[in-house]
Parts: sequence; C-alpha cells; structure tokens
Amino acid sequence: MELNDKRVVLGVTGGIAAYKAAELVRLLGKQGADVQVAMTEGATHFVTATTFQALSGKPVYLDQWDARMPNAMAHIDLSRQADLIVIAPASADFLARIANGMADDLLATMVLARNCPLLVAPAMNRQMWENPATQRNVAQLRADGVIVLGPASGEQACGEVGAGRMLEPEQIAEEVIAFCAPKVLAGRKLLLTAGPTFEAIDPVRGITNLSSGRMGYAIARAARHAGAGVTLVSGPVGFASPQGVDRINVRSALEMHAAVMGQAATADIFIGVAAVADYRVANAAEHKLKKDTGGIPPIELVENPDILAEVAALKNGPFCVGFAAESRNLEEYAQTKRRKKNIPLIAGNLIQDGFGGDDNRIVLFDEAGSHPLTLASKSVLARQLIEHIAQMLKGKD
Ligand code: C5P
Repeated sequence: MELNDKRVVLGVTGGIAAYKAAELVRLLGKQGADVQVAMTEGATHFVTATTFQALSGKPVYLDQWDARMPNAMAHIDLSRQADLIVIAPASADFLARIANGMADDLLATMVLARNCPLLVAPAMNRQMWENPATQRNVAQLRADGVIVLGPASGEQACGEVGAGRMLEPEQIAEEVIAFCAPKVLAGRKLLLTAGPTFEAIDPVRGITNLSSGRMGYAIARAARHAGAGVTLVSGPVGFASPQGVDRINVRSALEMHAAVMGQAATADIFIGVAAVADYRVANAAEHKLKKDTGGIPPIELVENPDILAEVAALKNGPFCVGFAAESRNLEEYAQTKRRKKNIPLIAGNLIQDGFGGDDNRIVLFDEAGSHPLTLASKSVLARQLIEHIAQMLKGKD
C-alpha cells in the first residue's frame, strides 16, 4: 500500500463535488491511509456526515466546539495529528478564507493551526474560478506553499463548460501518493521505453510480442513519484499514461529508436523496459497481402538497432538501465547482456515469473553482483528499482 500509516485530514467544503470526496475517502483508505474527515457547514448540505463516517470508520468533525475534544481544542489536536491536510472539494469561499488567514470555522482554523503540508483541490463554476479574486487567492496560496491540484476543465454541474471541475478522486489520490513519496530522483530527467513493438508485414499484419507494458508504466509512475521529470516512449499498449508523465507513442522499433535518440542527450537516466523486436520486416507490403496470389509470401527480416546499446554508447549520455527477460540461466544471461551493452544496471526476470501479469520476481544485477527482490506487485518492484538507481547515482555524484 502506498500510503501506509499516513494520517490524512480530509476537509470537505460546500460544493456539489463533495459527493466525490466520499470516493476519495475510500481510495485513500485502500492505500493504507488513516483518514479523518472534517466538514464545513456548507458541505453538510451536499453530503451527510454519516456517509463520511461510514467510509472512514470515524466520527466526522464539524464544529469548533466539538465536545469530543476534552480540551475544547479540536482545531489544534486534529491538525497536529495529521501528516497532511487535503481539502477536496475546496470551494471559492474556502480558498478565499484560508488565503486570508481566516479562522472562522473548524476547518479553516485547522488549516491555520497546521504544521503539515496542505493540498487543495478547487471545485467551482468556471466564472468563479476565472474571477480575479479567486485567481489572486490561489496565487497567494501557492506563494504560501500550498499545493493546488487542478482544477480540470470540462462539463460542470451547472451545465457550463470550462475550468473549475474538481479533479477526479482517482487523480487526487494519485497526487497525494506522489506527494508523499520520497523524492529520491528530484530534479532528474528520466527517459524510458515500455511495451512491445509492432513490426509491420503489411498494413494490417505484423510481428509483435506479449509484453504488456505494465512494468514500464509502473516504473514511469514510480519515477514521477520520486520527483523525476519523466518521458515515456511507449509501444502499442492498451492503457492510460501514468499521471504527470509525458508520453510519446510509437509502433515500430525504428520509431522507438528515433523518439529515444531525440531525447537521450538531455536525459539523466535511461531505462529500456520495452521488449523491442530484434528484427523487422525488410519487405513490408504497401497493400494487404492476398492469400490467393503467388503462394506463401516470403518474409525477409533485417536487424533493428539496439536502442539501449546505442544510448549507452553516447558520450556524456544518461545512466543506463536495461531489462533482461529470460526463460533460463537468468544470472549468466543478464550479466553477459549488461556487460555487452556496457550498462551499469540490468533488471532480470524469468518470463515464467511475470511476463504480462501484475506480479513479478526480478533480480537486479550490477557490478557488485546480484540483488534479488522478493516477489511483489510491479508497482512495489518499480519503487525498489528507482531506489536502487537513486543509490547508485548518489555514489556517482
Ligand atoms: O538484447 P536484449 O533484447 O535481450 O536486451 C534487452 C534490453 O535491451 C531491454 O532493456 C530492451 O529494452 C533493450 N533493447 C533495446 N533495443 C533493442 C533490443 C533490446 O533497447 N533493439
């Protein structure tokens, strides 16, 4: 779980997006966070405290004079117990109040009394968002170190279309996870490849492989959480980009090669996770091959460039990491591959242990030897790989 033992105060203010905060409680809880909900009076007109109590498993705090706090200092006690405060949705009125240091209800007082980070997810009508007063308040909050999440643009509850929608609960949860992760790659630029490649035989057929792209996407996400600026060069896969990651879509190994070489000179780290086809079709047909003309068509193959080896050979190039998916002799093959490509680190895995699935068993091989990681989800392994890379880079700085 990615928010184990994090104590989050979720402040809910008055806006129709308050109903989405219920899902946010669930998502944060699922990642192991201990969530305490506090609501403004306005929020209770949209969703009842009972909903949040049921989802968080804890009574909700509503007013400053709550008798449950023996010292009558709910604002101090609750904000001191928090590792971070998240306000979602944050109404225009609430932003205005906290931008001005007001303490006129429990939640605003908690914000003022906090000694932990504050994240706000604004939600309001687009005119209210664009109003110079709101923009001024948001700029002030940013200047005060408050993290502003969104808002998104799109259709609004009032029927208008524009900026001011609250980010979806999944996006807010992802930002909270990213915020809480140790910033071991802060300021680094990371480039990586992921997924399979597709080598065309004709306009509708091709040669590809079973790489799901999951490991690469998990690494892109973990690297972004660690504070890196991430560019993901992705072969054809069916899922969305991790939040906050730049993605370049490619299909063939040649396209992947071109995209990577265009970015490699400015990257600090390059990770080749993609299962790049070793060969492409030399005589790809311009039109669809027909079955009934001229017998079995011959498919001629030519070698693709080795992207990783080429990046590793760049002068002053990035710190390079490879992947070796093998079906046997993992250590021998992976270490040989690492030396041949002249890279400091390679992550090896046995195909039968995780190709395409959610979990994987990988072993890291570097000059010091082998570092087996225990069987885990790809997101956990991705985080461990990023930590290992950060350690190795620390040794080089
Ligand atoms: O040589 P092999 O394909 O086994 O090496 C695997 C590693 O090399 C992976 O990191 C893969 O992304 C990278 N690779 C590459 N370009 C190729 C072949 C593999 O970048 N043409």
